[in-house]
Amino acid sequence: MPVVISSIAHFVPPDIFTNAYFEDKIDTNDEWIQTRTGIKERRFQVSGELSDMLLPAVEQCLNERGIGPEEIDCVIVATITPDNSFPSASATLQHKAGMTNAWGYDLSAACSGFLYALMSGVGLIDSGTCKKVLVCGGDKMSSILNFNDRTTCILFGDGCGVALLEKTDDASVGIQDSILKMDGNGGQYLYMSDHGDGAKAPFEDYPDEIKQQYVIQDGQSVFKSAVVGMADVSAEIMERNNLTSQDISWLVPHQANLRIIDATARRMGLDSSKVIVNIDKFGNTTAGTIPICLSELHHQGKLNYGDKVILASFGAGFTWGSILLTWGIKK
Ligand code: COA
Repeated sequence: MPVVISSIAHFVPPDIFTNAYFEDKIDTNDEWIQTRTGIKERRFQVSGELSDMLLPAVEQCLNERGIGPEEIDCVIVATITPDNSFPSASATLQHKAGMTNAWGYDLSAACSGFLYALMSGVGLIDSGTCKKVLVCGGDKMSSILNFNDRTTCILFGDGCGVALLEKTDDASVGIQDSILKMDGNGGQYLYMSDHGDGAKAPFEDYPDEIKQQYVIQDGQSVFKSAVVGMADVSAEIMERNNLTSQDISWLVPHQANLRIIDATARRMGLDSSKVIVNIDKFGNTTAGTIPICLSELHHQGKLNYGDKVILASFGAGFTWGSILLTWGIKK
């Protein structure tokens, strides 16, 4: 019996910050940001923490499946911005959402966190350890951004998504294949050394000097590796499953840069109409991008039962990967 995503939901904070917000604060402009990244605006959580974003997404996800929080066996939270270094984001969320029968853990794989967590959840269900696993991905990136650093602060946003995993007796749907990769040599190009109180910081932080507890990135090195990495795994998962671009209904890529997304789609031979892009609205929400995209697509009624979907990510680590699934929620 395959493992399927049986419900999905997302949450983004209500406060919208357009590119113009940065123009009078740092040396940047709307035209540069849109041309180089595809981002027009993003959401920042002006008060509250990661768990405050995850909670409404969890509640919606469970409501739509028609089950209570006590039915969850395990909750995995993929994030690099938990409310606290410890207790874990999963423990905090377990308590807030009333998932009284769940154990759980956090998973740190930056922008690939949701994909890593999804496959961890599949493993727990396949092994018989769990029946219902809640896989969450999200970040409050504003808490670890240096708003003086124009090369990073314009790229990110806050938001999260939550997917419920369980078995289905329909063998034609579910999560079918995955390729997950990691190369720690990439750590020097995108990192944050010292977590400290980073995730407690307000969304606007203008330190006098660039400290290590903020996102530090060599954008060009990350860009070059991401273009190759995300395209490679996405093409490879198609080839080894004998799929052509006609067979794929949707590519749901990590939203870091529109140019990286376009390069991946080109390599897969996919028409842009099959590629999910919402970076213009939300920027890069790190572990949140893929579940937010999937949830939007589902709630807009665009995902059909039986659709073949490829999820693809690239992020700090470096970590990257792709997952092939057949959508299994009936409208
Ligand atoms: N506004 C205006 N100018 C900016 C700027 C900003 N916000 N940020 C950088 N610049 C400047 C640079 O200082 C540089 O100026 P110089 O030529 O005078 O030195 C110029 O723009 C070009 O910078 P460069 O870094 O070459 O731009 P780029 O085309 O590579 O775009 C990124 C920069 C960050 C958008 C791009 O490299 C990228 O998206 N990288 C990958 C990011 C990513 O995927 N991160 C997360 C991994 S999940």
